[in-house]
Amino acid sequence: MRRLFPSSSAPAPAPEWSLEEIAEEYAYPPLEERTAGASGASGAWLRGNMVASLDGAIHHGGRSQPLSSQADMWIFGVLRALADVVVVGAETVRQEGYRPAKPRAAFAARRAASGQSPAPAIAVVSASLELDFSLPLFTEPVVPTLLLTGADAPPARLALAREAGAEVVFAGEGVAVEPSRVPGALAARGLRRQLTEGGPTLLGGFAAAGVLDELCLSVAPRITVGDAPRITRGPVLPVPDEFTLDGVLEEDGFLFTRYRRYRQSAE
Ligand SMILES: NC(=O)c1ccc[n+]([C@@H]2O[C@H](COP(=O)([O-])OP(=O)(O)OC[C@H]3O[C@@H](n4cnc5c(N)ncnc54)[C@H](OP(=O)(O)O)[C@@H]3O)[C@@H](O)[C@H]2O)c1
Repeated sequence: MRRLFPSSSAPAPAPEWSLEEIAEEYAYPPLEERTAGASGASGAWLRGNMVASLDGAIHHGGRSQPLSSQADMWIFGVLRALADVVVVGAETVRQEGYRPAKPRAAFAARRAASGQSPAPAIAVVSASLELDFSLPLFTEPVVPTLLLTGADAPPARLALAREAGAEVVFAGEGVAVEPSRVPGALAARGLRRQLTEGGPTLLGGFAAAGVLDELCLSVAPRITVGDAPRITRGPVLPVPDEFTLDGVLEEDGFLFTRYRRYRQSAE
C-alpha cells in the first residue's frame, strides 16, 4: 500500500506544471511499446479520457463541464494536443456541441516534429448519421472531420456528410461500427495516437472489444446523486478487464489517474 496524499514529506506548495511538463507526463508510449498494445502491429494506441464525480456520474444536466475544473481542462487540452485523432460518439457531439479542434501555438513545434497535423482530426462514430452537418465541426475544421460508420449507413445522410466535407470511414458490416475495427481503420490513415473522449456507449464498446489501451480518469470531488450513467455502458464483460496504475496527479482535490490495460507478456 502506498500513501499518495497527504505525503509523508514536509508540506510544500504544490508546484506549478508547465504545459510542456504535462505533455511529457502524458506522452504516448513509443512505437515499440504501442505495438505490444491491443492493436498490435498497426501501432495504434487508444487512450480514453473521462471525468466522473465521486458517485460515478459522468454528467450533470447532460454536460460534463459541471464536473470539470481548470486543471482538468488543462489536461483535457494537452491530451488533445498530443493526439492524431479524437474519437467521439455522436450523442456526445450532439449534447456537448462539439467544435473542431484548434491548433495551439504552444504545441505547434512539437506536433510538426512528430509529423502531426496542426490540430487533431475529430472522428465521430455514428450509425444513424443524425448529425447537423451545417455545424463548424463539419464545415470549418482545420483537418477534415471523419465520420466512422457501418457499410449500411443511410445513403442520404452519407451524401449530406460528404457534401459538408466529412470523410467517411466504414468500420462495420451493418449500420453499426465494430469498435474492434476502429483503431486499425484510423491507423491505416496514419492516425495512430488515438484519444477517445467517450461517451459511455462508445467507451463501453471499445472496452468490451478489448481495444482500450489506456484510461485517463479524472475523479471530481463532487457528488451529484441522480441517475447519470458511469463512464462505460453496454453488456457486462464475462470477466472484469484488469488495468494497472500508471500515474496519479492531484490538484484542488481532483485526482487525475492514468491506467493502462494489463496484458501478460505472452498475450
Ligand atoms: N464525463 C465525461 O468525461 C463525458 C465524456 C463524454 C460524454 N459525456 C456525456 O455522455 C453523455 C452521452 O452519453 P452516450 O453514451 O449516449 O454517448 P456517446 O457514446 O457519445 O454516443 C452514443 C452514440 O454514438 C454512436 N455510437 C456509439 N457506438 C457506436 C457503434 N458501435 N456503432 C455506431 N454508432 C455508435 C451512436 O450514434 P447514433 O445515435 O448517431 O447512431 C450512439 O447513439 C452526454 O451527456 C455527455 O455529456 C461525459
